[in-house]
Amino acid sequence: MQTYSTNTQLQNTLRKARERAQTVAFVPTMGNLHEGHLDLVRKAHTLCDLVVVSIFVNPLQFGAGEDLDTYPRTLAADKEKLFKEGVDILYTPGVEEIYPEGMAAQTLVRVPGLSETLCGSSRPGHFDGVTTVVSKLFNIVQPDAAIFGEKDFQQLSIIQKMVRDLCMPIKVVGTPTARDDDGLAKSSRNGFLSIEQRHIAPIIHQTLLTCREAIACGFDNFLQLESHARMKLLQAGFEPDYFAIRDARTLRAVTEDTEEIAILAAARLGSTRLIDNVHLTLNPAGDWGMLAAH
Ligand code: PAF
Repeated sequence: MQTYSTNTQLQNTLRKARERAQTVAFVPTMGNLHEGHLDLVRKAHTLCDLVVVSIFVNPLQFGAGEDLDTYPRTLAADKEKLFKEGVDILYTPGVEEIYPEGMAAQTLVRVPGLSETLCGSSRPGHFDGVTTVVSKLFNIVQPDAAIFGEKDFQQLSIIQKMVRDLCMPIKVVGTPTARDDDGLAKSSRNGFLSIEQRHIAPIIHQTLLTCREAIACGFDNFLQLESHARMKLLQAGFEPDYFAIRDARTLRAVTEDTEEIAILAAARLGSTRLIDNVHLTLNPAGDWGMLAAH
């Protein structure tokens, strides 16, 4: 595995690969890699000849008072995992490499609408930081495909729209959320949970599943389902940011044109913010079924 920390080194190598007609799949990460990230790498191997992974904890997507300073940085262990997964190139730029003129002077990429709701409301500016750094990384790596986890469903939707809107010739691929045996979505932030909080954490997924089952059984008072779910999370000890039943394509309220529903939740357990989502699709009989639920 070749490891580079500057754009020039990385781009020299990738230029030679492209001259050999090799295709490139790219997995951007912030490190502290777990099974969910490794699933992205495995998917990347199925799509292209070369797999490039980046590790960059992007300060531009953290708000004031968020966990930028404490975000887990585990480069040595991450390298070992990526090496075992057969990653070809690891890119580990420093902040000065990505933001040479400082973050305040950085041109921003913003996806309106999709980035203003849900996590965008609770974390103002967060998605502008994500789309800006992902655009930069896309321009540096120039991949044929890029792989993102469905756990961050809103992020995936925003990046798909950005790529469409800016005519970037990149195939954006989502992969299913990796979960622990009790259903908790794998996340770098799970390591912040105390033993007691770790026992409570899977309730977020259970609450999403209960809500999905109610919709699949024909219950269509979504406001009531949302407020019932929020109450359940509060009672379990969470501080919910949102629990929302939305159209999976627009992330707006469900309408009669909705073909797929996304149920999304974000909630704090102590100082740790967890997010998760589940989906269900309108089945051929014209009602909400569990057949295509994921
Ligand atoms: O999902 C993440 O880890 C980050 O938001 C990403 C896409 C690597 C951008 O910093």
